[in-house]
Amino acid sequence: MAVQTVAVVGAGFMGSGIAQVCAQAGHTVRLIDADAAQIDKARKSIEWSVGRFVSKGVIEGSVESILGRVAFGTSFDAAREADFVIEAVYEDAGVKKSVWSKLDGICGAQTILGSNTSTIPISLLAAATTRPGQFVGIHFFGPVPMMRLVEVIRGQKTTDDTLNATVAFARGLGKNPIVVNKDVPGFLMNRIFGAMGCEAIRLVEAGVGRVEDIDQGMVDGFNFRMGPLSIADLSGLDIAYNAFRVMHEMDPEIMPAPPKLLERLVQEGKLGVKTGEGFYKYDAAGKKIGPAF
Ligand SMILES: NC(=O)c1ccc[n+]([C@@H]2O[C@H](COP(=O)([O-])OP(=O)(O)OC[C@H]3O[C@@H](n4cnc5c(N)ncnc54)[C@H](O)[C@@H]3O)[C@@H](O)[C@H]2O)c1
Repeated sequence: MAVQTVAVVGAGFMGSGIAQVCAQAGHTVRLIDADAAQIDKARKSIEWSVGRFVSKGVIEGSVESILGRVAFGTSFDAAREADFVIEAVYEDAGVKKSVWSKLDGICGAQTILGSNTSTIPISLLAAATTRPGQFVGIHFFGPVPMMRLVEVIRGQKTTDDTLNATVAFARGLGKNPIVVNKDVPGFLMNRIFGAMGCEAIRLVEAGVGRVEDIDQGMVDGFNFRMGPLSIADLSGLDIAYNAFRVMHEMDPEIMPAPPKLLERLVQEGKLGVKTGEGFYKYDAAGKKIGPAF
């Protein structure tokens, strides 16, 4: 089934980016949020971001034509005509399950249902609907208009048709989808990054290596574009901590408890680039000044 209309539920950081790339790819988009203020913010952020891409010649078309494909609103009824619904509301299983049971009663029989969850099992969310075969994980990386990766996650009951259609849809957005064959905590990328990032933090905590040396080592020795501690600062240490904690709670064997140093930084409000300090210190423009300790 060719996807024409996409509904995105949740117009925050991820949902607005997902709506933007769908509109840029030519889809008709319905962007829905329970909070009208978030809708206004999303409209402005999409307009600004598309404007930058257009002025730099990165994408074709005008801001008006791309923005004109997106209808913004607070009613879930807008998802009725969608061929693909992507949910990007708060990372809370209760909130997501109630959104999905509501959408299940609204969406057409053929609609593909995809969640952008980072940590909640796809099969748990699929069970809130009457059609788990059409339910899939579609995990974008932020900022969505910049990052090429999308993890497509097979839930316990996801059909091959749903999985293949989702991979094709993500490719059509200009993304590079990778398939996660089992619905495991952390999927593929957060599982790998969790192991590496936590180990890097434990080595700093134990005084084995300095922050900047560990990052530089990964750049020079493994061709990383930036080291794991810089990546953690950029993503937000609170986001990283919560993802590692949830993975640990789901399966302590695959993910040990998050490092105490990370927990302490989060408690002290040192969340990385967004607060001006994490493993490094940053100036008001977010430029790195030097290591924090
Ligand atoms: N932030 C990231 O880097 C990142 C990366 C990958 C995946 N994710 C996942 O994407 C999802 C969204 O994350 P975010 O960073 O965009 O969060 P966010 O807080 O920026 O946005 C969440 C939005 O959901 C809306 N919302 C909450 N409850 C709702 C409801 N019942 N109905 C409609 N709208 C509702 C909120 O008003 C808000 O606008 C989460 O599942 C998160 O784990 C985040």
